[in-house]
Amino acid sequence: MGIVLDKDMDEARQGEAITMNEVEGGRKLYLESYGCAMNFSDSEVVASILTNDGFSTTQDSEEADLILINTCSIRENAEQRIRNRLRQFNKAKKNRPGLIIGILGCMAERLKTNLLEEEKLVDIVAGPDSYRDLPGLIQEVEGGQKAVNVLLSRDETYADISPVRLDKNGVTGFVSITRGCDNMCSFCVVPFTRGRERSRDPQTIVQECGALFNAGYREVTLLGQNVDSYRWNMTSKGEIKDETNPTTNFAELLVMVAQVHPDLRIRFSTSHPKDMTDDVLYAIANHKNICNYIHLPVQSGNSDILKKMNRGYTREWYMNRIEAINRIIPNCGITTDIITGFCDETLEQHEETLSIMREVKYDTAYMYKYSERPKTLAERKYEDNIPEDEKQRRLEEIITLQHEHSLAMNKAQVGKIEEVLVETPSKRSEEQMMGRTDRNLKVIFDRKDSKPGDYVMVRITDCNKASLKGEIVESE
Ligand code: 5AD
Ligand code: SF4
Repeated sequence: MGIVLDKDMDEARQGEAITMNEVEGGRKLYLESYGCAMNFSDSEVVASILTNDGFSTTQDSEEADLILINTCSIRENAEQRIRNRLRQFNKAKKNRPGLIIGILGCMAERLKTNLLEEEKLVDIVAGPDSYRDLPGLIQEVEGGQKAVNVLLSRDETYADISPVRLDKNGVTGFVSITRGCDNMCSFCVVPFTRGRERSRDPQTIVQECGALFNAGYREVTLLGQNVDSYRWNMTSKGEIKDETNPTTNFAELLVMVAQVHPDLRIRFSTSHPKDMTDDVLYAIANHKNICNYIHLPVQSGNSDILKKMNRGYTREWYMNRIEAINRIIPNCGITTDIITGFCDETLEQHEETLSIMREVKYDTAYMYKYSERPKTLAERKYEDNIPEDEKQRRLEEIITLQHEHSLAMNKAQVGKIEEVLVETPSKRSEEQMMGRTDRNLKVIFDRKDSKPGDYVMVRITDCNKASLKGEIVESE
């Protein structure tokens, strides 16, 4: 997958700049983030490291001493957007010779020194596992060098760094539990940019969730490229590494985090259909505060395409997992990712994607045209041979179908009374609040005396395909 849930690849957050408290006389950092939730979470680690190095943050790139962009390589157009942004910043440098510009994240890892040598757009190139080295890299640049660290690590998880929280609402936060990915889906650049999969010490995860709860947070989303393969003190073959210490798998981690506090909601992303076991589903079913919501990327409904994608499951296997979810967790929201126009995809195979959507009826889906990425298995083995306009036509077809399903799902909620965690004032009016139901549906309702972080009971009165409307009712 790639962590891409609604909050995963939230269009509204692309290019968001962070701010923290000012440090008197400190150097100023402008840090902009793109891509998935893992990147936004990494930016919080970067902010923490640089605050300790004497930086304060600014929302205004024009007053910055250091501009950093945390980047995404998942599709070609993501990179294009960032390149344009870098060119803009680079122009600003002409009038401000002391300004340092750095690129972080997946694009830094993928392009390495090209960005310095050929395009001459940046001073610092830092891959996802090198953020502890940023103060050193900045020093090198100040000494007149260009600075690069694109080493990938087998064990870096930034476990001991307490991230500076950059999400604005103070209610929902991300906590990363694994880094990297070992799956090698043939279309995906992530294994090349984020390296080998490694899990973070469970005690540090529980501590971070506890600290978030004490700071007023009421929801955490545990992040990993493939959360189901989380394992602590175990090898990938399931052998125990240290007999004197306990092992932890993902289901066990979920239960540990659920026990932090009954009022802390737990979500996670992303699940992988080949690794999602029933014990994870039972953990969800048995704990009220583990939300009934699973993001389970399908990518395609056709088993031959899935094989070419190297996803490690067939359509039948995927449907078996969906049946298990529906059997074990009644009323569970399911969302997905879909790619249209993968190499050699026939019309019949595309039809199978439409038919699996009809069978599952996802709450929402994140839908993309296939974008060939350098070095991936698909780039080396298959031809990117579906014409752009045909990819687009197929994409529009699945989007239209998904909108029907989203609307039907939302309509089915009308009349229900749901527990909603209040997040923020709604975009349109301070008098209305936005919150989410357990299954992650967005609800807009009159504020009354509710505030962010409260749990309120809301009667659902109306909806469109994107959200529900409701009114607060007294809890019985
Ligand atoms: N082209 C299009 N979509 C992609 N994704 C990952 N790589 C590509 C690509 N090369 C999508 C997948 C994944 C999500 C994070 O992004 O659907 O689940
Ligand atoms: Fe997700 Fe597959 Fe990419 Fe790993 S290789 S990040 S599982 S799409």
